[in-house]
Amino acid sequence: KILILDFGSQYTQLIARRVREAGVYSELHPWDMSEEDIRSFEPSGIILSGGPNSVYEAETPKAADAVFTLGVPVLGICYGMQTMAAQLGGGVETGEVREFGYAEVYTSADSALLRGIEDKENGILDVWMSHGDKVTMLPAGFHVICSNDSTPIAGMADESRHFYAVQFHPEVTHTRQGKAILARFVHDICGCGNDWTMPNYIDEAVAHIRRQVGDEEVILGLSGGVDSSVAAALLHRAIGDQLTCVFVDNGLLRLNEAEQVMETFADHLGVRVIHVDASDEFLRHLAGVSDPEAKRKIIGREFVEVFQREAEKLPLAKWLAQGTIYPDVIESAGSKTKKAHTIKSHHNVGGLPETLHLKLLEPLRELFKDEVRELGVALGLPREMVYRHPFPGPGLGVRILGEVKREYADLLRRADAIFIEELRSSGWYDKTSQAFVVFLPVKSVGVMGDGRTYEWVVALRAVQTQDFMTAHWAELPHALLARVSNRIINEVRGINRVVYDVSGKPPATIEWE
Ligand code: XMP
Repeated sequence: KILILDFGSQYTQLIARRVREAGVYSELHPWDMSEEDIRSFEPSGIILSGGPNSVYEAETPKAADAVFTLGVPVLGICYGMQTMAAQLGGGVETGEVREFGYAEVYTSADSALLRGIEDKENGILDVWMSHGDKVTMLPAGFHVICSNDSTPIAGMADESRHFYAVQFHPEVTHTRQGKAILARFVHDICGCGNDWTMPNYIDEAVAHIRRQVGDEEVILGLSGGVDSSVAAALLHRAIGDQLTCVFVDNGLLRLNEAEQVMETFADHLGVRVIHVDASDEFLRHLAGVSDPEAKRKIIGREFVEVFQREAEKLPLAKWLAQGTIYPDVIESAGSKTKKAHTIKSHHNVGGLPETLHLKLLEPLRELFKDEVRELGVALGLPREMVYRHPFPGPGLGVRILGEVKREYADLLRRADAIFIEELRSSGWYDKTSQAFVVFLPVKSVGVMGDGRTYEWVVALRAVQTQDFMTAHWAELPHALLARVSNRIINEVRGINRVVYDVSGKPPATIEWE
């Protein structure tokens, strides 16, 4: 397995994903991971990520000495290269100009890392650079392995100690041979086999869950979202009927969602699922409340209450399973705090294990989102479920602006289903990251036939994003928007106007509340 030490680059998670795509398990840890922890991790190789710092600053992050004395191969990337150079006795200087974007480098000497890898003849590589500082003097024992005019030492190696470093970013797709370079490092240089594969993972995870749980029972809150669905399928594979899922219908779900969840899990996979229709209770507590954060709190609290009530009916349950995934547990560089995800308070079930006195089971906590999806498909979940857009915990509760009413939710569900159906049939669903309809509690005038109408307005929202922190509104074809608008107005009596949201994030957020 490969240890990746994170110096704070925005690309560090990509390194871990690329290494895993090469079939090798990798974990990300902050750069200041202790020597003891590094040793007990027993890495076959270590990668030092890029980062925002300059090796000149006081308090510069440095890799622990163990990194260079353990006797395992090390690959430094960008800042990782600079700190490797500085820590091993080389020189680093601040460049006059920041180099950012595409560049060509030529492999200037034979090296185990880059041998035979090229985009063009004569060992030319198209790479992605993003740096201000650069290495200007090699540490003893190193030679240059690639270079160009602006960065004469764009890569360096000490082949005898198996230390390698590149100034460019092999983890981003703009570096066309990046995958090959990382694969070369982990396979040929570190000697890792190709054993991080889904079938292997399933076997290991199943065995691990069985050992952990024994003959005790497990409950899981199934939401219909990707993570809890895949967690349910995996646990079911491992422990069958020792798993009970609780599916809470809060009245704020998408059209036919409860039916679909029951069909997939209970009917098709044979998972034991308790379906609780708590919509009356949720809507009763939401009556008269229009502040978005207050609504989120109520929905979160109600969920805990309903779930707890159901859990008490299962006195044999000793474990609470959750669909936590790897990005939720990665510590960010230099701090022991988890990343703040958004500025909205996210509905979660964090308080549950304590109040229920259950042990926490997180079978997906090692996996990235794309691995979770791959696992879901391998476990037999329908593709449409596994590749579904994210849906917020508070559901339609934050897509009905202001006070939530059942009448609004019913209209919104139908309009949303039409939008999604049209996105799917036009091929746009997979080209957008998240798309939905928002209900505006505003009436506007229209005409239908000979009559005047005075009905509700809905907004369509569709965005494209990598990380949901920033997003572009999707440039959907006008013909598609026209079809969606026509269908909603004709098929959903009560809505006579449809608008399209053309705001980016920032400054707008993806959801309207
Ligand atoms: P915003 O609206 O903050 O949304 O741009 C970013 C992503 O987070 C989702 N979101 C939530 N998810 N509970 C959730 O589980 C929430 O309260 C919540 N609010 C926003 C949103 O759907 C988008 O994917």
